[in-house]
Amino acid sequence: MTTVNVSDRPAHDLKADALVLATVQVDGKATLAAGHGLPRAAANHLTSALVALGASGSAEEVHTLAAVPGVAAPVVVLTGLGKDADGGAAFAPEVLRRAAGSAIRALKAANKVVLALPAADEATVAAVAEGAALGAYRYAGVRGPSAKQDKGVGTVTVATSQARVKVVKAAATRAAVLADAKAYTRDLVNTPPNKLFPQSFAESVKSRAASGKAKVSVSVLDEKALAKGGFGGIVGVGQGSVNPPRMVTLTWNPPKAKGSVALVGKGITFDSGGLCIKPPASMLTMKSDMAGAAAVAATVFAAAELGVPVKVTGYLCLAENMPSGSAQRPSDVVTMRNGTTVEILDTDAEGRMVLGDGLCLAGEAGPDAIVDIATLTGAQMVALGPRVAGIMANDDDFRDRVRAAADASGEAAWPMPLPTDLRAQLDSSVADLAHKGERWGGMLTAGLFLKEFVTEGTPWAHVDIAGPSFNEGSAWGYTPKGATGFGVATLLTLVEGYAG
Ligand code: BES
Ligand code: MN
Ligand code: ZN
Repeated sequence: MTTVNVSDRPAHDLKADALVLATVQVDGKATLAAGHGLPRAAANHLTSALVALGASGSAEEVHTLAAVPGVAAPVVVLTGLGKDADGGAAFAPEVLRRAAGSAIRALKAANKVVLALPAADEATVAAVAEGAALGAYRYAGVRGPSAKQDKGVGTVTVATSQARVKVVKAAATRAAVLADAKAYTRDLVNTPPNKLFPQSFAESVKSRAASGKAKVSVSVLDEKALAKGGFGGIVGVGQGSVNPPRMVTLTWNPPKAKGSVALVGKGITFDSGGLCIKPPASMLTMKSDMAGAAAVAATVFAAAELGVPVKVTGYLCLAENMPSGSAQRPSDVVTMRNGTTVEILDTDAEGRMVLGDGLCLAGEAGPDAIVDIATLTGAQMVALGPRVAGIMANDDDFRDRVRAAADASGEAAWPMPLPTDLRAQLDSSVADLAHKGERWGGMLTAGLFLKEFVTEGTPWAHVDIAGPSFNEGSAWGYTPKGATGFGVATLLTLVEGYAG
């Protein structure tokens, strides 16, 4: 876990391996951002260096310099914030998050890093701390004994005049917990699917619960309990794999809870498509099909570590979707947890089947609200691209609330409708429900399918993260290649909102 500190001592005097400073774009050229507090010699040196480098100060532009006079740290990283929108020193939190993340990623061998970016209040200090801690993430991979370990950044210190202010210190703590939660999510998602399958996922959650300071209780339903409990959706999806399915429930139940939120995550540890097998290229990223469940688990732990006074229950719907002699067939009819029967049309539409059961279970406990998060459809990526999640809901106010939480967290998401006109596509001649609609609007019919399993009257939102959960391109801002941890910040912010 990356340690996060705040300090009101002059940043250039602090002992560190690197000092991160910001540049701003003015008339197409980079200038040092305000609030660095550097001695004149250092500032002059950096100003000439920026000219010599032809720096533009644009977002994502990073320059690394060594041995800057007047700076204790041997390395200085200059990270671009882009244009200063309002002429003041106020940059949006997400701009600071990304700039801090890009700077940290550019460092080769630094353990202690100080950041002196324009951060003067709770929100901006938190953003710098988050961006830095998130940018420090490295996936260790599965390596042989002779492989060199890349240690990465261990401590980030945010320089700010507000370092002694209570809420600023608390914001730094939250940033560290959030970054650690996202790192856990990223690790789970990046883990190869022969190492992470339903049982091992459940074990990972149990051991994190056992090692944590705060009390999260974990209960696991195995394949026998699932069959007995009538979870036909998850049993059907999991029956083709030698790794049987699991339903994991994690609960953070603080003494004076002010509300209760249920989070349901799609946890397909590998999605081959089942008998309706995917082409090889489409299967390449399908170890990430459990990113929703990973985000849910990490959020429950984060809420517990921060002592958020809200009951949070996470439901992880874990299964491996494989073809075999025991696999589910198109035309099978299965009975879901709430008694609804579903005609299987395409075994690759497995996510909605495991989530349907999860939503039933979540509703049985009568929470104030339910959110599910899932790498549910390729149609989400067609509609919104690789970086923006789709939010659907049975309640417009609740959808806006989830959207606001996403905005505040720097996680891009956009509202999507659940058109009642499309519901007829889910009619079946042999069961209560067909499990997919036509090709067009596939994200929306998947959402309409899920809605059938939500208790009437309970606000519910569905977040499709097929695109933003996994970065197939190169790293940017604080987002690494591979698993991104998308959703954890949104869900944590949403849950905190129930604390009143
Ligand atoms: N896990 C996939 C969706 C997905 C695709 C996530 C690409 C991330 C990247 C899901 O299970 C799936 O296969 N969906 C099908 C549904 C269809 C068969 C109705 C799809 O989107 O093609
Ligand atoms: Mn699928
Ligand atoms: Zn899937």
